[in-house]
Amino acid sequence: MVTYRIREYRPGDYEVVRDLFATGMSEYMPTLCVHMLKQPWLILVLACTFCLLLASSRSLLLPILALTLLLAVGRQLLGYIWSMYIERCLQEDLLDIQATYLDDKRSCFWVAEVEDCVVATVGARPSEEHQEELMLKRMSVRKDYRGLGIAKALCKTVISFAQERGYKSVVLNTLMVQREARAMYEGIGFQRYRHYVLPTVYGRLANCTISKYRYDVPSVD
Ligand SMILES: CC(C)(COP(=O)(O)OP(=O)(O)OC[C@H]1O[C@@H](n2cnc3c(N)ncnc32)[C@H](O)[C@@H]1OP(=O)(O)O)[C@@H](O)C(=O)NCCC(=O)NCCS
Repeated sequence: MVTYRIREYRPGDYEVVRDLFATGMSEYMPTLCVHMLKQPWLILVLACTFCLLLASSRSLLLPILALTLLLAVGRQLLGYIWSMYIERCLQEDLLDIQATYLDDKRSCFWVAEVEDCVVATVGARPSEEHQEELMLKRMSVRKDYRGLGIAKALCKTVISFAQERGYKSVVLNTLMVQREARAMYEGIGFQRYRHYVLPTVYGRLANCTISKYRYDVPSVD
């Protein structure tokens, strides 16, 4: 039985928090590749390339080599785009965690630690759309400490904080690849209220869908 403790972020946690977030997000690369390979336009491009090369070369070798090359280049490109996304997050709120989350009493950042070692993170700050909504962000649990209820406990910490500070709800976004996270939020009682494809060129090409969730916080009285 692993015993963990949830506490507020301290400046000394900076590197491990950023690393936990980046590692957690990097893990989605294989799922992202599978997601891309299911896109009809990509299947069509690959099938047409294969058939055209087969018809023109009358050999299986060239189309197989060409497809392998295309898939390898695609994998590299996807990896590059995904790492740019992770880097952008690290340059946003995670660049100065203290200033973003702890210098304002309507925000907070927590870590879970096991034997003085930080194994999970979560942040919360007012949503940019509605100030009465608290946005849950940067939930990440180290791989070897998953399935122990740590994420659930961190979520509950955020909900209690929202209640204490008088927020009406806790909101969050998930990407289409974050299946475990969605199951966890739904298990706690978060309701999906919006689901849309990211309105950018990359978003449409990758069919990158965002699900927005909300948890209505009961008032204290
Ligand atoms: C999603 C994540 C935070 C879950 O952390 P965790 O500590 O393992 O979650 P918990 O142990 O608290 O599990 C809570 C619930 O999550 C769901 N869940 C967790 N792992 C799951 C899995 N592999 N498959 C399906 N559901 C899963 C279950 O509903 C579980 O409830 P149960 O134990 O009653 O069945 C963790 O997998 C993670 O850090 N992933 C990478 C980063 C990420 O995706 N963050 C979310 C950003 S929105």
